[in-house]
Amino acid sequence: MTHVFSPSGIWQRTGVTEHLGGINATQRLLAMCGARGSQRALDIGCGSGYTVCRLASDYVAQVSALDISRRGVEDTAKRVVKAGVGERVGVVQADAHRLPFRPSLFDIVVAESVLIFCDVQQVLGEMARVLQPGGVLGVNELTLLQPPPERLNTLLR
Ligand SMILES: C[S@@+](CC[C@H](N)C(=O)[O-])C[C@H]1O[C@@H](n2cnc3c(N)ncnc32)[C@H](O)[C@@H]1O
Repeated sequence: MTHVFSPSGIWQRTGVTEHLGGINATQRLLAMCGARGSQRALDIGCGSGYTVCRLASDYVAQVSALDISRRGVEDTAKRVVKAGVGERVGVVQADAHRLPFRPSLFDIVVAESVLIFCDVQQVLGEMARVLQPGGVLGVNELTLLQPPPERLNTLLR
C-alpha cells in the first residue's frame, strides 16, 4: 500500500500504516534492524500501532511506544490489547524532541514517517541518547535521492 499523507487522519482511523511502502516497508525495516528475543524496542510516532504490534508479536520481549497525539496513543493502546501483546507494551503520549526515557534503555529505536514533522537534529540526538551503545536505529522516511525537478519544487511551494 502506498501512503498518501492525510491531515484528517483517515489512515489512522482505518488502522493502516501511514508511511510510504506501507506494511511491506515496515516488515523490511524490522527485519533489517535484526530485532530479537529479550531485546527492548521503542517506536516513536507510533500512529495506529501496527509496527508496535509487529515488534511485540514477532520480534522482541518489551516494546515502548509514544506519539504526540492522544489519538495515536489511544489507537495503539487498543490495538496492542486486541493483538494480545498489551502486557509487553507501554504506550505514552510524549514529544519525540524530549523522550521520557533514561539514557541507553533501548536496543532498537524505530520511527516511520515521523522525522518529517520534527527538528531532525534534536530528535536524532534524543534517539542516540536512549539507544544503548551499539544499538540499532531504523528509520523509514521519505528521502530525496537527487534534487527534485523544478516542476515538483513549484508544486510543493
Ligand atoms: C505519518 S504518521 C506515521 C505513523 C506511524 N509511524 C506509521 O508509519 O504508520 C506520523 C505520526 O507521528 C506523530 N508525531 C508527529 N510529530 C511528533 C512528535 N514531535 N513526537 C511524537 N510523535 C509525533 C503523529 O502524531 C503521527 O501519529
